[in-house]
Amino acid sequence: MSMFAALQSHPWAYPALEAVHIVGIALLLGNLVLLELRVFGRGAALPVQALARLALSIALAGFTLAAVSGSLMFATRPEELIANRLFVIKMGLLVAAACNAGWFHGRGSLEKLDWLARVQMLVSTAIWLAVIGCGRWIAY
Ligand code: HEM
Repeated sequence: MSMFAALQSHPWAYPALEAVHIVGIALLLGNLVLLELRVFGRGAALPVQALARLALSIALAGFTLAAVSGSLMFATRPEELIANRLFVIKMGLLVAAACNAGWFHGRGSLEKLDWLARVQMLVSTAIWLAVIGCGRWIAY
């Protein structure tokens, strides 16, 4: 049975995937904002390395939930989504977010906590908000 047929034969399956997608997004964005505020100097009593380990592992778990549920939703209508410019932009933004995260950690921004670390966190938030915007827009 194709993925599409499998999801069609269970009317609750697609809404369930959408719900998992949103839980993943909430965990991802919520934890990134927490770390961002710490990078901007809020909650200075919290050790930044320990906070980052916790927040980033939950954010990564959230991304994994979004990626798995998103890939399953994608599998129900791949041709239509690949032809959708906003879906392609969304995937490009995911690559941009990965590059930004690689740059952030590669240069040791968590040790430096300087102006560039703050810019990188703002860029990260902007990218994730754009991803959410594309995601919502695809539905219409
Ligand atoms: C590999 C990763 C991902 C894939 C393949 C993917 C794919 C999809 C697909 C196929 C939909 C369904 C659109 C529809 O039913 O009309 C969707 C919805 C959505 N996605 Fe993703 N997605 C991924 C990651 C993310 C991430 C990381 C975010 C946000 C940070 C995100 C935000 C959204 C939003 C906001 C929606 C609309 C949900 C709704 O209205 O129910 N996606 N995504």
